[in-house]
Parts: sequence; structure tokens; C-alpha cells
Amino acid sequence: MASKALEGVKILDFTHVQSGPTCTQLLAWFGADVIKVERPGTGDITRGQLQDIPKVDSLYFTMLNHNKRSITLDTKNPKGKEVLERLIKECDVLVENFGPGVLDRMGFSWERIHALNPRMIVASIKGFGPGPYEDCKVYENVAQCTGGAASTTGFRDDVPLVTGAQIGDSGTGLHLALGIVTALYHRTHSGEGQRVTCAMQDGVLNLCRVKLRDQQRLQHGPLKEYSQFGEGVPFGDSVPRAGNDSGGGQPGRILKCKGWETDPNAYIYFITQAPVWEPICDIIGEPEWKTHPDYATPPARLPRLNEIFARIEQWTMTKTKFEAMEILNEKDIPCGPILSMKEIAEDESLRATGTLVEVDHPTRGKYLSVGNPIKLSGSPTEVKRSPLLGEHTDEILRQVLNYSEAEVNEIAASGATGAPRMAAE
Ligand code: COA
Repeated sequence: MASKALEGVKILDFTHVQSGPTCTQLLAWFGADVIKVERPGTGDITRGQLQDIPKVDSLYFTMLNHNKRSITLDTKNPKGKEVLERLIKECDVLVENFGPGVLDRMGFSWERIHALNPRMIVASIKGFGPGPYEDCKVYENVAQCTGGAASTTGFRDDVPLVTGAQIGDSGTGLHLALGIVTALYHRTHSGEGQRVTCAMQDGVLNLCRVKLRDQQRLQHGPLKEYSQFGEGVPFGDSVPRAGNDSGGGQPGRILKCKGWETDPNAYIYFITQAPVWEPICDIIGEPEWKTHPDYATPPARLPRLNEIFARIEQWTMTKTKFEAMEILNEKDIPCGPILSMKEIAEDESLRATGTLVEVDHPTRGKYLSVGNPIKLSGSPTEVKRSPLLGEHTDEILRQVLNYSEAEVNEIAASGATGAPRMAAE
């Protein structure tokens, strides 16, 4: 019998934009009751950002806030503060990614929250940890630049590049989710809540671990798997950008396939994994490379990678990326076609596993989203649409916080919850 893994866990979700919402969406997918607290009137700023349909919650918002409930609450209003206090006493976890100091200024320091509810776990994302930048506001690309991703991404002779993968925002959200479930597990035997913090710079650096590895390897000689080694270009004192070189011991490159002249994604990632070197030689029509001392072993190939990949590319250019994939996979040669977002959106197998899901939304209609990429055999994820702003204010006040009719009216009259709107404007 399937049950939700985090059933019974109540999350006070004070997150906005991308990093925090990624985290609480994951917890919601696993079955936690995620109560998103939003400012009356506007709510999470992303509801109104990058709107494709006027007055309808943006895809930015809907794709990051599935399976949550929304309550509007002005936490600067005295009555709003009272409601927030009650939420703190009722919930297991508070998650926030406000700018530095915001929660303290609101009157809810860790000490205060801990006094109100000693079992509460308080989880925060900030741009930086303690240090010279701790007071800075941070967005995705700032984290990519300060966490080591940008300086190591792109081509050597060109500017640093940021990547399309949201490693600063969604990556840190993932880190925080792990911290939260770890603290929840710890609480089962300690009985106490604790603080969980993730800095976006730290999250990005964690994902750039192999580049810090290379930084230290540099002290002992050139990085031979980088193409600049084969090109005879000397290394400086920090890890260079390596284009599309593979970061591991198995050299790889992005190579053109048939149609590359007109299709920006007619490319394949090709890895010359050592155990399949012989079939590679046969497929590209260089059988003598199997035994030739300049090509037969991985160390012999390292200074010749440009020449070798140029020869392989002559072959890949005669095939479409899907034909090449089929031929190479028959011989267990690792490779990956460069899939466009259009191709991914149309991928039937990703839809079959629920990694891509079609969701119906009352004001938007049907839209495509990324579902839960983490699959639990006993707790399958059902992706539910994101809440409208303030959609659950009344039910949360009455059913979760047990306010009486008179108290609900009093809260409404104070302006603490604002007027629920049915869509972003
Ligand atoms: N009721 C009343 N006020 C509210 C509120 C509510 N429900 N929710 C938020 N606010 C107020 C806060 O109290 C704060 O007021 P203050 O500055 O007077 O104390 C104000 O809204 C602004 O909050 P802040 O988080 O600083 O928002 P911002 O739009 O200025 O900055 C970020 C946005 C993302 C840059 C910032 O939140 C940040 O650096 N977060 C941490 C890092 C992060 O997660 N970045 C990536 C986001 S994807």
C-alpha cells in the first residue's frame, strides 16, 4: 500500500523566487503539508514575473510551487504576527530564503522561534555563509560566479560562462532539503529542533568539487586530460576553462552530427572510454589505431586528443545524433545526443516515468512541468497544481490553526490576510 514518505510533517514555507521553493516543492512531493506564507496582494514575486499569459500565475511560479497550500499573511501587521506565532507552534519546519536579517527584523529570530517551539527546525538559504559577503543579496548567477562554476565554464580564450542548469538556486534548494530531512531524523531521537543553513556559494562549490581537485593537481604538473595540454598551451596558476572536455579520466567532447549547419543542436557528446577503444577504432574506420603505439593506450592518446576527436567527428558528421547514438550504444560506447528543450518536452519515456508531467491549472489550463526526479518505490509522487494566491487562507486558519469563526473574522478585519485574489496581476 503506497503511503507518502513525509506524511504528517508540516512545513511553514516562507520561501520565494527559486531556491527555497525548489526545496519545499520536493518536501511537498514527498507528502509534507507545505503551507506557503505569502504577502497579501502580490505574493511570491515570481507569480507576476515572466508572465506568458496576462493576469495568470507565471510558469516560473507554477513550476516551483506544486502540491503546496497558500495563505496570505502580512507579517508586519500585529495580528499577522500572532497568526505566524501560531503557525510556528503548529509546524515542524520553517523554511526561508529571505535576504540576510529579514526574519530577525520581522521579530522572529532563531532564539524566539526556538522558545516558541523547541522542536521546530529552521532552515535557511542565504547567498553567502559568515564572512565578508554575508549581508549581500544573491541570485543564481552571483552564486555561479562566486562558487567556482563560471571561472571553470566556457572556452579558454573567451569570457567566463554561466550555465543553464540552476545550480545556485535549485542546487542549493536540493542541498537544503537533505539538511531538513536529516534534522527531522535527528529530532526523532533528540526531540529538539535545530538550524539548517545552506549558502548558495557553498552549494555551487560542492557541485564544482572536481575543479578544486584539479586546482590542487595543478601543483604537481599539467592537467593532461584538458585539451590545452595536447595543444601545448602552458597552464597558469588556476584551473582554466576546459570547453567541453570531460572532467574525468575518460576524455570526451561535443562533436558535430549530420545537419549541424542548420540545426543548433545536431551534436553528440562522445566519450572515448578506454575499455571500448577497439570498437571505436572499428566504427570510425581506423582499425590500426587499436595497436599503434601513438593511439593504443590512454596515456599515448592524451597529447593527441584534438586529432583523435577531429577524426571521430568526421564519422559523426555522417550520421544524425540519434543514428550515432544507436550505433555507439550497440557497442556500449558512452555518448549522449544534445537534446533541445523541444525534443525533451516531446519525450514519451520522460512522460511515462512522471519526470515530465502535464498539470491542469484553473486559470492557465494545461502546462508541462518537470515532476519529481527522485522516485520512491513505496511513495510515488502525485504532482498537484500550485495554489492560487491565498487560496487556502481560510482553511489553514480554521483547520490547521483552529481559529474560531469570531477569531477568523477579527483577523480578516485587521487586514493581516488581505483580500485573496484568484490570480497574479
Ligand atoms: N509580510 C510582510 N512583509 C514581508 C512578507 C510578508 N508576508 N514577506 C516578506 N516580507 C518583507 C520582508 O520582511 C522584507 O522586509 P524588510 O527588508 O523591511 O525587512 C522584505 O519583504 C524583502 O524581503 P527580501 O527577502 O530581502 O526580498 P528582496 O526581494 O529584497 O530580495 C533576494 C530577494 C532573493 C535577493 C533575497 O531574498 C535573498 O538574498 N535571499 C537569499 C538568497 C536566495 O535565496 N537567493 C536566490 C533567490 S532564487
